[in-house]
Amino acid sequence: MSYIEWNDSFSIDNAEIDAQHQQWIAIHNTLHGILLEGDVVSLQQAAINTLQEMQAYIRKHFAFEEAYMARIGFPEIREHWRLHKDFDTRVYGYLRDAQKGELPVLNSELVKILRNWLVHHILFEDMKFSQNRR
Ligand SMILES: [Fe+2]
Repeated sequence: MSYIEWNDSFSIDNAEIDAQHQQWIAIHNTLHGILLEGDVVSLQQAAINTLQEMQAYIRKHFAFEEAYMARIGFPEIREHWRLHKDFDTRVYGYLRDAQKGELPVLNSELVKILRNWLVHHILFEDMKFSQNRR
């Protein structure tokens, strides 16, 4: 499985949101590196730290996007808000499990789940409010 690499197809034509997505991808790639290539001894604490960092970051980022969608009058804001909320709940669940020392899925599975969600969300969901603005 490869790291996520930013390219122009991820751009939703908003410089601030694009920069935030790049930061989220950077956090994801760090987690990917730790979970799949990290040293086993420090793995659990490192996974907890990075999941915490991801959660704090997506909360800030989602709030920013939600304010932006409200500002432009994006009609599907409620559905989009629900997607954000569901992902936040999932990340919180993984974090709690990691803190208890029990991740329910393999590390490679977890990286894949987080990766697929992130990529799909930017390319298909966030892209909707980019098109809406045009
Ligand atoms: Fe979003």
